[in-house]
Amino acid sequence: MELVTKSKTSVIDIGEAILDNAGHICKSLIKSGKVAVITDSNVAPLYAVRVCGSIKKAGLCPALFIIPAGEEYKNLNTVSEIYNFLAENLFTRSDLLLALGGGVTGDIAGFVSATYLRGINSVQVPTTLVAQVDSSVGGKCGVDLPAGKNLIGAFNQPDYVIIDTSLLKTLPDNIFNDGMAEVVKYGCIFDKDLFELLEANNPRDFITEIVKTCVGHKADVVKKDERDTGERMKLNFGHTVGHAIEKAGNYTSHTHGQAVAAGMVYEARIGEILGITPKGTSERITALIKRFGFETRLPCPAGEVLDAIKADKKILDGRLNLILLRDIGASVIHPITLRELKSVMVV
Ligand code: GLY
Repeated sequence: MELVTKSKTSVIDIGEAILDNAGHICKSLIKSGKVAVITDSNVAPLYAVRVCGSIKKAGLCPALFIIPAGEEYKNLNTVSEIYNFLAENLFTRSDLLLALGGGVTGDIAGFVSATYLRGINSVQVPTTLVAQVDSSVGGKCGVDLPAGKNLIGAFNQPDYVIIDTSLLKTLPDNIFNDGMAEVVKYGCIFDKDLFELLEANNPRDFITEIVKTCVGHKADVVKKDERDTGERMKLNFGHTVGHAIEKAGNYTSHTHGQAVAAGMVYEARIGEILGITPKGTSERITALIKRFGFETRLPCPAGEVLDAIKADKKILDGRLNLILLRDIGASVIHPITLRELKSVMVV
């Protein structure tokens, strides 16, 4: 599929066992030169040799850079180390950068590709479910500051996204399930059929179809609203409360999936209280999300969540855009003041 935005047309390939096409795809983007393969210490032992081998076979020169695994390395220090690596290896704008890994690797490498020499072409090869259905597509990239997550970043569409769903087979259940929170989110906001498929089946049995569906939704939204000022905001369902849960727990108590899962249930409940979401929707989401091992209760007092929401970078003039469900599969952007939000935030 193609994702056409003002800045670029990205090609997105989704399938099983397509990782070895990486070299051929790089070759279609640059006729000769170097490919910096940016990966992390968890993913490198699994796939780095294969990807570098495929690049070599295509007649290009791979240069491997391994980041220590973990969100704590998603910072400007790591970015700076990669800039130095690229400069020392004489990378120019006619070379290429390839991100091989989960969301953290994709974010860091995407940001480097947006800024090194004012921009160098890039390929994303996501290896986790959350990266395959969300972060590798749409061009948001960035790094954290001590003051907060993703405070530095860019919109930078990759040239190519290679989504090999067979890589998910070796993912441990906890990492796979963590990505299921984002999959459930697509069902909630856009796609009742997807939600019902998840209710009735084991997602591992339909994973390629599920990833294609989710990426299709993401591409549609990004096409309409690359810069996140309208429709794309719907992807934030569950994330206003979810980010606040992560922040209140100092980003260590909950994974992103756990926080978003609890956030979706809570935001569905807020929608019910406001009379926008049909009663019983939050229970239906709870039943589905529990199957992936998520806790669905708010893990801290509502007051703490509200305090963390107040510091959200998306708040303007005491108002934020909350995403609410009109039904499973249908969402709306609902502007709300912090005062109104407080009045509907129950324990
Ligand atoms: N992860 C949400 C977005 O890309 O807009």
